[in-house]
Amino acid sequence: MYNWSECTGRKIFQTFNISRNLASSRATATGQHPPPSMTSSDFESRRYLSQQVTDGVMSIKLSALVKLLTDKYKRHYSKLLPIPWNDDIHLNLHDVYTTLEVKKVKGATFEMGAELENLHDMFKSSDDRRIRIEGAPAMGKSTLCRKLAYDWSCGELQQYTLLFFLEMRHVVELDMVTEIFHQLIPDDFDLSKQELSELISQYKESLLFLCDGLDELDDSHLTKTDIPKLIAGNLYYWCTAVITTRPHLCDNYLKTCDLFLLVKGFTSDRTNEYILKYFKDDNIKGDLLIQQIEKQKVGTDFITDLLENPLHVSFLCILWEFHKVQGYSFPETLTKLYSEILECVLKRYCAKNKIDLIDSELPEEIISEIDALALDSYKAYRNKKTMFDKSDISSEASLNFGLLVKDLGHALRKFRRKITFSIT
Ligand SMILES: Nc1ncnc2c1ncn2[C@@H]1O[C@H](COP(=O)(O)OP(=O)(O)OP(=O)(O)O)[C@@H](O)[C@H]1O
Ligand SMILES: [Mg+2]
Repeated sequence: MYNWSECTGRKIFQTFNISRNLASSRATATGQHPPPSMTSSDFESRRYLSQQVTDGVMSIKLSALVKLLTDKYKRHYSKLLPIPWNDDIHLNLHDVYTTLEVKKVKGATFEMGAELENLHDMFKSSDDRRIRIEGAPAMGKSTLCRKLAYDWSCGELQQYTLLFFLEMRHVVELDMVTEIFHQLIPDDFDLSKQELSELISQYKESLLFLCDGLDELDDSHLTKTDIPKLIAGNLYYWCTAVITTRPHLCDNYLKTCDLFLLVKGFTSDRTNEYILKYFKDDNIKGDLLIQQIEKQKVGTDFITDLLENPLHVSFLCILWEFHKVQGYSFPETLTKLYSEILECVLKRYCAKNKIDLIDSELPEEIISEIDALALDSYKAYRNKKTMFDKSDISSEASLNFGLLVKDLGHALRKFRRKITFSIT
């Protein structure tokens, strides 16, 4: 008898054993070994037999689902975008992922506790099944979730048979199983909602949900979904769920979590490590950037504070590359940093599309398109919108500048033509 409730841990391997036995079960079930006339104990054994066949079929479905998710996470999360809204520039997650400082938060006064040495340590205690992760904008919460999903797809975190990575901003469905289908499972995949529910209830404690960006889901919709129930433990009590959000935006939903972690970004060693990884093909450039940063740190905290944030460190790397090093010094305010990165992205766009600069400056036509886009963005921001349709954007050309993410829903089953933009 294959007892599914005992299957936690090395389930997949056991699953393959069950699949191997499926053939002989099928032979019996189809009458190749005719059952004797039915008695009550035979009825039990028939029941057992059909259970065995079902388990066998389910085991095949489970391995297909694991294969599907593994493939998705490997393909979609193996790349890291240093500028999240510009997919022209991408790096390998494996090459550049740099450990973030993640601290435990203790008690209601938000006192800082121990640092998490390794990202996977958050799963060390089986009592910590609801894990709340907070971090300022662009501190690396989504990247951290991608890293976990990617690690799982590469065979790490083996205690979890299934890992569901759900992006909260894409949640539309009210019940969890339908949402998993919506975000992760293609239409023609041979698995019914009933079967997925069965797998979820069989695998309970070896399920991991990653719910990224709870703050990005509109509260009036969130309350109607299964997500608050999942977080509170009123749904899938035994599973583990990681929930990320910007600080203090979802306190009401998260106060019952077992473990509270805060992403503090890079320490100075980690910043240098990231820079060297970024310039792994040109160490001298990386070393020069580190020297320039050290030089500019003197007498101001601005650069030091900036360097905690992975996105800002990526900006410095991109600007350093763009300005070809000589005599360049970094801006001394955040606004200037963003306007320089904007200019850099637009100049790259001009170069790629053979649009001439005027005295090394952006041509008027590009500037007016950007003005129009800025106005559209401002209007959307006022309306608390971060996703909008093509028709909401007045400047057609700006769609291609590399400032808006074309959300083709790569992680999604349904193809949705939405454009999202980042206001960080
Ligand atoms: N650990 C890391 N190693 C290297 N780069 C990182 C790391 N974490 C984040 N980054 C870089 O910082 C960028 C922003 O990170 P991310 O989108 O994960 O932030 P976030 O905290 O989810 O932001 P938001 O609050 O806007 O959702 C990423 O595109 C990536 O380039
Ligand atoms: Mg995010």
